[in-house]
Amino acid sequence: MTSPKSASNIDETLQRTRSVIDRVVSDGKVIARSDKSVIDIFPVAINAAQGKALRDWVIKEKAVHTIEIGLAWGIGALHICEGLLMSGKDNARHIVIDPFQAASFKNCGLQLLEEAGVAHLVEHCAEESQIALPRFVSEGRQFDFAFVDGSHLFDRVFLDLIYLGRLVRPEGVIFADDYQAPAVAKAVSFCLNNLGWKLEEKLSLDEHHQWAVLRTPLKPISRSYPHFVDF
Ligand SMILES: C[S@@+](CC[C@H](N)C(=O)[O-])C[C@H]1O[C@@H](n2cnc3c(N)ncnc32)[C@H](O)[C@@H]1O
Repeated sequence: MTSPKSASNIDETLQRTRSVIDRVVSDGKVIARSDKSVIDIFPVAINAAQGKALRDWVIKEKAVHTIEIGLAWGIGALHICEGLLMSGKDNARHIVIDPFQAASFKNCGLQLLEEAGVAHLVEHCAEESQIALPRFVSEGRQFDFAFVDGSHLFDRVFLDLIYLGRLVRPEGVIFADDYQAPAVAKAVSFCLNNLGWKLEEKLSLDEHHQWAVLRTPLKPISRSYPHFVDF
């Protein structure tokens, strides 16, 4: 049970997180602490509607342990943390994988998480997801919800989905960004046609930006040696 003291801390952190989200999303800019440069976060960052969708899925799934591939400016991570805080679970944790946070994003994603007061909830893994995810499988890690928004090359998204399928709990949700991109749609299509995943929701703000909410099966489907459905 959450104590009144920790409930009020959660409330304070929630307000702080929301004010960072509102400020950064409405300015569309972040000021890097390292060199004071002012940087445009869009179009790389997810937009407000997608952030809200992410947050709402985290809450709906009662997620406690979440994983994200591709931190960038931290907008998805801030919304996921908002969802975790709203669920009020003391042991909530979010893992973000991104090898380019320092080199390409001046650590601004981590900076905003710190400003929001949620850095203690977040573990950053500065490796390619295609290297980190199989290790997480061998370490027996488990997650309740995943957000895939790293490399958009077919082979990398494919590997991300395959390993996340093993890391996310049975009948868990994997939220895939940029479903309009042929490489992402093709990788998702393999999972839908061959692994028994379901397309729970497909949302689009316009023809340039769609995302897919995927649900993994309760048990891996049984596949015989020659099983293959073209995708
Ligand atoms: C479109 S941005 C992510 C946007 C972010 N999720 C958000 O909420 O705004 C793509 C991110 O993927 C990261 N990335 C690229 N290749 C990657 C890889 N192999 N493994 C993990 N992250 C990768 C990039 O550094 C970049 O931060």
